[in-house]
Amino acid sequence: MANHDRVTKAVIPAAGLGTRFLPATKAMPKEMLPVVDKPAIQYVVEEAVDAGLHDVLMITGRNKNALENHFDRNAELEETLVKKGDTDRLEKVNYSTALADMHYVRQGDPKGLGHAVLRAKMHVGREPFAVLLGDDIIDARDDLLKRMLQVQAERHATVVALLEVDPDSIHLYGAAAVEETDEDDVVRITGLVEKPDKEHAPSNYAIIGRYVLRPEVFDVLERTEPGRGGEIQLTDALQSMAEAPDWTGGVYGVVFRGRRYDTGDRLDYIKAIIRLAIDREDLGPELRPWLREFASELEDEPVEFVEEMPADPTGPIQTLSARDN
Ligand code: UTP
Repeated sequence: MANHDRVTKAVIPAAGLGTRFLPATKAMPKEMLPVVDKPAIQYVVEEAVDAGLHDVLMITGRNKNALENHFDRNAELEETLVKKGDTDRLEKVNYSTALADMHYVRQGDPKGLGHAVLRAKMHVGREPFAVLLGDDIIDARDDLLKRMLQVQAERHATVVALLEVDPDSIHLYGAAAVEETDEDDVVRITGLVEKPDKEHAPSNYAIIGRYVLRPEVFDVLERTEPGRGGEIQLTDALQSMAEAPDWTGGVYGVVFRGRRYDTGDRLDYIKAIIRLAIDREDLGPELRPWLREFASELEDEPVEFVEEMPADPTGPIQTLSARDN
């Protein structure tokens, strides 16, 4: 076992293409989409800091500038707010700047989550570290990462977060085969399958976007061949680690029973905004009665769907050269 067993670093992969959210993510990472009035990524960094992880490495891809700028100073904006005497907003702007000790590394091509995590090897070194997916929000009122760090410290193993999902949606996740332990919310993972059909899923325990990984994961990822979708899958590396507990420490799961929002999914994103806004002191009192009224109107109204995209005003897409000729 490594000597440095205390987790101090968080790695946040945010280099995916976010295709489910196109066209919003054409020029902006999906992690910058606002959830109420904060970008999704800020909730994730706040969660890491709240669990005591102030050293944050973000894995970025194309369009990384918005992510870096959000956690950096914006002198012009600060100056304007100072001149206006708008201290409330100034505080909000400065908060994300001072939140964590931010570091960035580029993934290059988005070759999968496992490939993104491997880019953290130099920064992390031979210590266990946390991975928080930049599009997965855990409600700040429900502890998950702190509990995972506790389990890691006790068992010196790799720890993943599990959520019990409807069998009909297990094909959207990595699913875990598990054995009970002496703790009600902790299971030992004996195997993992990425996005299985309902019939082949080993359980309804889905892996969600929080991991506390031992550094051996880098050795395993370096040898992991591209899997599903031609991408290097973190799930495949975890499967190898679960199969070799002697030198990897094995893999455990913490069963999370709190609120989680997958902001990379459009429907879950909308639900996240409503769920979080309704409990906000500044928005809830007006939003709650409006929502109630809206919901009661929905019951009598005939459904009239809006087209996803307006009719193409230009006809078939033309290439630049075709137009030039
Ligand atoms: P997803 O599969 O949800 O992200 O990856 P995606 O590919 O961006 O989404 P869609 O399906 O096209 O809409 C989970 C997390 O892993 C990161 C993503 O940014 C997201 O936080 N990721 C994924 C990377 O950092 N690099 C990759 O190559 C793939």
